[in-house]
Amino acid sequence: MELPELYAGASPFQKRDAVHVLTQYLPQFDWAEGDAVLDFGCGDGDLTEYLARCIPRCASLTGIDISKKMIDHARNHHQEQDLRLEFQQVDIMQSIDAREVFPDGFDKIFSFYCLHWIKDHQRLMEHMYDILKPGGEILLVFLASNPIFTMYERMAERTEWAEYMKDVDEYVPHYQYSTRPAEMFSATCRSAGLQVIECTAQERSFSFQNINIVKNAVAAVNPFLRRVPLRLRESYLLDCLMELQKLKAPSTDGCTVARYRLMIAHVRKP
Ligand SMILES: C[S@@+](CC[C@H](N)C(=O)[O-])C[C@H]1O[C@@H](n2cnc3c(N)ncnc32)[C@H](O)[C@@H]1O
Repeated sequence: MELPELYAGASPFQKRDAVHVLTQYLPQFDWAEGDAVLDFGCGDGDLTEYLARCIPRCASLTGIDISKKMIDHARNHHQEQDLRLEFQQVDIMQSIDAREVFPDGFDKIFSFYCLHWIKDHQRLMEHMYDILKPGGEILLVFLASNPIFTMYERMAERTEWAEYMKDVDEYVPHYQYSTRPAEMFSATCRSAGLQVIECTAQERSFSFQNINIVKNAVAAVNPFLRRVPLRLRESYLLDCLMELQKLKAPSTDGCTVARYRLMIAHVRKP
């Protein structure tokens, strides 16, 4: 994801869900003075700053992201708001030993709307285990399934777009068609050595007020868009919307309703 400005203004349900989950789960966390906190896949940094406001006692809050553009944006817009905030461009999946990247480790790890971008959850959770201190807690919020991923698959079958979407499978979550997503992810966490406090895949929905908002939301997260030549992008996006429309039930008041399953996992390192 390389469009921080667009994402910052076109991620209403991602931000809404994160705030909803934090309101519910933060009171369950055991906080200590001076906790070191990680926001994994921090993107534009909006939620990292929000998180900092929710946890006044933590000593440091580090936002990391694979995207340099996201990190530059987060630094420019959020770093000065709170001196405990720091943003780093890191691809933890590339490291053999994540502890070398973060030798001091973290007391808490949060991640919002990022894990559906990562295919190898076993390796990721092993890395998280390594950088989490004993007794530390993790809260992960990500898409278990969403019609947008089926839309990607349908777009990839179309002759005009197939060449830009050959690796579409890389962007469809494991759990997209699973009937037991929470059980699958819980098993992955356990096999990485983590204790699952709670893991659910909740049905959620979001009403987009008009089609332009849907279009911007799709453009902000579509990993294939930048491969499509500029002159074809508008037409590509309109086709995305058409395919999406076939998968969604428009509500009677003209809004477009997205229905999806949100994975929420609260885990601990013993
Ligand atoms: C949809 S955005 C979510 C941003 C923010 N957490 C939020 O909820 O608004 C997903 C972010 O995950 C990042 N990401 C994807 N793969 C990653 C990886 N392997 N390591 C770190 N960040 C990653 C992307 O660059 C992107 O900024």
